[in-house]
Amino acid sequence: MGIGATSRMTETFDAIILGAGGAGLMCAAIAGQRGRRVLVIDHANAPGKKILISGGGRCNFTNLGTAPDRYISMNPHFVKSALGRYGAQDFLALVERYGIAWHEKTLGQLFCDGSARQIVDMLLSECDRGEVELRVAAPISDVAHGDGQYRVTHGGRVAQAPALVIATGGPSIPKMGASGFAYDLARQFGLKVVEPRPALVPLTLSGEEALFRDLAGVSAPVVARCGKASFAEAALFTHRGLSGPAILQVSSYWYPGQPIGIDFLPRAPEDWLIAAKRERPRATVQQLLAAQLPDRLAGALAERLALTGGLADQKDRALVEAGQRLSDWRFVPNGSEGFAKAEVTVGGIDTAGLSSKTMEARKVPGLYAIGEAVDVTGWLGGYNFQWAWASGWAAGQAL
Ligand code: FDA
Repeated sequence: MGIGATSRMTETFDAIILGAGGAGLMCAAIAGQRGRRVLVIDHANAPGKKILISGGGRCNFTNLGTAPDRYISMNPHFVKSALGRYGAQDFLALVERYGIAWHEKTLGQLFCDGSARQIVDMLLSECDRGEVELRVAAPISDVAHGDGQYRVTHGGRVAQAPALVIATGGPSIPKMGASGFAYDLARQFGLKVVEPRPALVPLTLSGEEALFRDLAGVSAPVVARCGKASFAEAALFTHRGLSGPAILQVSSYWYPGQPIGIDFLPRAPEDWLIAAKRERPRATVQQLLAAQLPDRLAGALAERLALTGGLADQKDRALVEAGQRLSDWRFVPNGSEGFAKAEVTVGGIDTAGLSSKTMEARKVPGLYAIGEAVDVTGWLGGYNFQWAWASGWAAGQAL
């Protein structure tokens, strides 16, 4: 095929965005509205699939408490610029412009009153305003770079642009089309990748601790800790181990072999069992626990503490130790439920190779990476979408 024939078949754009998730659509809309000719390519058959299933179908689209310390990254400062320029209030203003009704559920988490579909439709309308061209069901077979142009072969077509944005997310929930494509592409262009791990994911228990699985379905408000991270939310026992918001949150900080500490009675003062011994000497530990925790959990904990008889029968020292154990019950998970069940990925394209202002690769002009593909992971509660919007916005301003 001659050069002329190739150039006739190659469509030219100002920017090509790979991935039509939250980050890619936001980036495309902003760049398009700034007058750039933008093409978005996705291999899935529809855009924004993760948005549609998020927040139980209502999309927890941001968090009013968004702040850099709610993100995990090898460089904790990286998020500051983008979040500082496009914050929760900016996205909320967009949601309100579209008349989408919303509510704050808890802990600053904002959800649609109606459906997550409204957020996808809003982003698609914003893309329309920017005359963005969107191609779905378009598998990408090759990405090449030469003469200042990125050439993307997809579904039998070739498009080229001087700017390419990697917005294909992380490998969480592969059955929805998630892939490690972003990492392969980043490595192809010499960018480093921080080892990806499943995050916001249930943890599994084995051995002695597996006995707690008998409590499947029981949940309680706890404080869960892993290393220096701690979260006061609900924990849930499952058939495989531990879940619930408190556990999902600490899972993002967890490395295999590390213990998770759970405070089952976060409001109980220190030595509360000694005080109880004075006030209710005939009560059992199980009865005291059952007054504060679900019955089955109280029974399982009391059984493991093995303090038979009433409180009056116990030495003070034994009660102090029991109190300490209840406030820092150690579990060593044998693993997690993996990428198949993880809401997000920790790790990803190393931020050291990217500009925090524009998301452009420092050593590869015209190459950008945004959203979950990057080594930035938010807490549970709308923080991850806020990163998708903010990083997409930052790159969209720079394209
Ligand atoms: P995202 O994964 O959304 O988009 C990437 C796009 O790239 C997809 O459309 C995919 O098809 C495409 N793609 C992948 N590989 C490709 C390839 N090889 N070729 C072409 N295209 C490719 N967060 C939050 O803040 N609030 C919430 O309520 C929830 N809820 C939630 C529920 C569930 C079940 C999950 C799994 C996740 C959440 N999250 C969340 C996390 C949130 O969904 C996530 O952080 C963002 O969707 C990330 O946006 P991105 O655009 O970066 O990636």
